[in-house]
Amino acid sequence: MFITVEGPEGSGKSSQLPALAEYLRQQGHAVSTTREPGGTEIGNQVRAVLMSLQNTAMNARTEALLFCAARAQLVEQVIRPRLAAGEIVLSDRYADSTLAYQGYGRGCDLGQLRCLLDFATGGLWPDLTLLMDVPVEEGLRRKRSGGGEWNRLDAWEVALHQRIRQGFLEIAHANPERWIIVDASQSPEMVQLAL
Ligand code: TYD
Repeated sequence: MFITVEGPEGSGKSSQLPALAEYLRQQGHAVSTTREPGGTEIGNQVRAVLMSLQNTAMNARTEALLFCAARAQLVEQVIRPRLAAGEIVLSDRYADSTLAYQGYGRGCDLGQLRCLLDFATGGLWPDLTLLMDVPVEEGLRRKRSGGGEWNRLDAWEVALHQRIRQGFLEIAHANPERWIIVDASQSPEMVQLAL
C-alpha cells in the first residue's frame, strides 16, 4: 500500500510522519518512509538545485521537470521495489505537491502536469493521501520560528502559498475516495490522535 502525506508549508507533516510509521509497524506492517524531493542519491543532488536560495530565476516549468526527475528516480529505485516486497510505503510529499505548487501555485497547466506526472511515475499514484491542512500564516509562522531549513520556496510571497493551500483542498475535495483532510492547526498531540 502506498500512502502519501501532503500539505502546505509548516503543516507539521514531517514531524507527524515517524509517529504514523511507528503506529503502522505496531500493527504488524513492514513500513518504509521516503521524502520528496530527494530520497535517493541522485534525487538529493536535484533537491540541492531546487532548494538553493541562489536559484531565484528558476522558471516554473524547469521546477516542475526537476521535481519530476527526482521523483522518477525515487519511484524506480525505492518505491516500486518496496511495494513489490509487500511493504507499506509512506512518503513525505509526492506528485500532488507538483499539482499544488507548480500547478495551482505557479500557474503550470494542470492537464499537462498530470501527463508529466504519469510519465515520471510510470502511472503510480497513491492508494491513500493525508492532507495536513493549516492556514498559510500559521504555517509560515511555524516554519520561521522552527529553526529548520528556510529554502527558496519558503520565501515565495504569501499569495502564492494561499493558492497552493487552496489547490490541495480542491484536489482533495475532488477525490474524496483517496484523500483524508486533517486539521493540522491543532496541537501536535491532537493531530496525532486524529491520525
Ligand atoms: P522541504 O524542506 O522538504 O519542506 P516540507 O517540509 O515543506 O516538505 O521542501 C520541499 C519544498 O518543495 C516545499 O516547499 C514543497 C516544494 N515542492 C514542490 O514545490 N513541488 C513538489 O513536487 C514537491 C515534492 C515539493
